[in-house]
Amino acid sequence: MIDLNRPAPTTEPERQYYFIKKVQEYVKAQSEKLGRPLTANITTFGCQMNARDSEKLSGILREAGYVETESEDADFVIYNTCTVRENANLRVYGRLGVLHGYKKKNPNMKIALCGCMMQEATVVEKLQKSYRFVDLIFGTHNIFKFAELLAMTLESDRMIIDIWKDTDQIVEDLPNERKYAFKSGVNIMFGCNNFCSYCIVPYVRGRERSREAKDIVREIEALVKDGVVEVMLLGQNVNSYGKNLEQPMTFAELLREIEQIDGLERIRFMTSHPKDLSDDLIEVMANSKKICPHLHLPLQSGSSRILKAMNRRYDKEKYLALAKKIRERMPDIALTTDIIVGFPGETEEDFQETLDVVRQVRYDSAFTFIYSKRTGTPAAVMEDQIPEDVVKDRFDRLLKEVQTISKEMSERFTGNEETVLVEEKNSQMDGYVTGRLGNNHVVHFEGSEELIGKLIRVRLDECRGFYYMGTMLDK
Ligand code: SAH
Ligand code: SF4
Ligand code: F3S
Repeated sequence: MIDLNRPAPTTEPERQYYFIKKVQEYVKAQSEKLGRPLTANITTFGCQMNARDSEKLSGILREAGYVETESEDADFVIYNTCTVRENANLRVYGRLGVLHGYKKKNPNMKIALCGCMMQEATVVEKLQKSYRFVDLIFGTHNIFKFAELLAMTLESDRMIIDIWKDTDQIVEDLPNERKYAFKSGVNIMFGCNNFCSYCIVPYVRGRERSREAKDIVREIEALVKDGVVEVMLLGQNVNSYGKNLEQPMTFAELLREIEQIDGLERIRFMTSHPKDLSDDLIEVMANSKKICPHLHLPLQSGSSRILKAMNRRYDKEKYLALAKKIRERMPDIALTTDIIVGFPGETEEDFQETLDVVRQVRYDSAFTFIYSKRTGTPAAVMEDQIPEDVVKDRFDRLLKEVQTISKEMSERFTGNEETVLVEEKNSQMDGYVTGRLGNNHVVHFEGSEELIGKLIRVRLDECRGFYYMGTMLDK
């Protein structure tokens, strides 16, 4: 029993459960006063890591008694922000203006901001100066303290700011929600030590910390008991998993353990840095029945000179050799990637090297980004930033190449019989559902809503560029 008349416990997660209870009492009293439930809304900007963090926020809000709504006209609104590129950052400021309008009508409304953008001192200064209506600001390292910060915010009229520079703490066993009943992201590590010269993530997410394998396995076992059949293991560079554990272990060894979990059908992971992708990992993938035949292998650039300036620690030849080795061992694997165009100093020749790798590797799909200057990173002060029109032209040419190849690559599976995990009702076609193949390609086929969350055999009848139309085989 949690006794609110006693001081808050000093150990975690007990301390957070104490504050959840405190918020519960507030929510209960407020809803009785207003004669309606209190509502909460979360918006996630950014990557799957952030999406998983939002599920943790959501779990705590629900536990505290808030009802989640789609509308931002809610009693508690929180933005989980991203700052990897400038446009992610700008979107937040734009939308804060709208929130301010809602708050003027609902004086009890509380607005909170968290996530990667809040780890930048300039952002917090700007918010303090020009966005006084924000009630709570916290960062990526103390997200486990959300219940406590929420309790403080509800009791205070002042702007509460709590940003940590870094942490070595990993707090287990807090409540969390998940968006889909049948699949879930699972953090296996936090932070990044790679310091690619363009990237802000190591500055806002701190140093690399791996979770203990037993905690990861325990979490997945609980998820499976609760109906999950697919997990996505999350880390900025899963290939360096376990290096800093008391008893070091490799990512391949972790995968072998996860593979043993009964009832778990599919294992995915993200992201795999080419510089330390081991032969052992390739073997584990090739021999596994559960690990999906899909590898996201960010290239960033095909020019060895640019890769060096990016501090990626592989060159064009090494990357190509790795891709070849993977394709030889697993011919049906889908390879996807991330590419940046317009890194400082990138010449037309460098760009042609990137196109060359794209043509040689033939990606199933690729995310292409225009280089965005992030203050505080080494690349931001490099000479020879590329003019916008040059970058835009290269970006368009790259996108065209990537799309043409990915259409051709998708064709190679047409006619196959494959297993899909059905994810949702098709929003365009009545009576159809949408599922995902192990290789991450999308299939639409005739079927009812009851199929959601199930693994179903389908035939891939027709490839329409980025997706297939299929027929269900076992009815
Ligand atoms: N840890 C992952 C990447 C996380 S960020 C990895 O190393 O693969 C996701 C992608 O955003 C990166 O792969 C990169 O392509 C892109 N990105 C990161 N910083 C960027 C910047 N400053 N400008 C443009 N794209 C960037
Ligand atoms: Fe950024 Fe590089 Fe770390 Fe990925 S590996 S998060 S690109 S620094
Ligand atoms: Fe963005 Fe942070 Fe992810 S900066 S990409 S949300 S780690």
